[in-house]
Amino acid sequence: MAILKVVKYGEPILRQKTQPITEINDDVRKLAEDMLETMYSSRGVGLAAPQIGLSLQICVIDVLPDGKNRPVVLINPKIVSGENKIEQEEGCLSFPKIYEKVKRFDKVKVEYTDINGEIKTIEAQGFFAKACQHEIDHLNGKVFIDYLPDWKRKLVEKEIRRRKKAKNW
Ligand code: CO
Repeated sequence: MAILKVVKYGEPILRQKTQPITEINDDVRKLAEDMLETMYSSRGVGLAAPQIGLSLQICVIDVLPDGKNRPVVLINPKIVSGENKIEQEEGCLSFPKIYEKVKRFDKVKVEYTDINGEIKTIEAQGFFAKACQHEIDHLNGKVFIDYLPDWKRKLVEKEIRRRKKAKNW
């Protein structure tokens, strides 16, 4: 296993639409392992391939980082339905120390391919539902600050520019 470098907001890859994975092989399984290790070592609850510089439709999630790891690997995932929008704070490993309130579904149905190549559907709720939506957004070149009102997003971008200048990003 290996810990990979996580790219920060500003890297063009975070804005690109990712490519579907056509074959689930050992390379994909190794990638999933590395992504999980990277996520745990960064104390994150989710990580998407563009964040480690790969434009592929794969993300990993574990919303219970309590020592009993329960990893979920989603390949070519899609949100097929959602209900009950709620506003909650969120962050992102590509936006260190930035937390903002975002409105998302509290319950979603996700269709994906698992690490054995089987097509599955899961129902996610609460924190897990939020993580699924956040990570699947990454696969579509979208990030959480896109949901903020213009004025707020501009403030966040200003803060990021300030930190970049200070070499603190
Ligand atoms: Co993120």
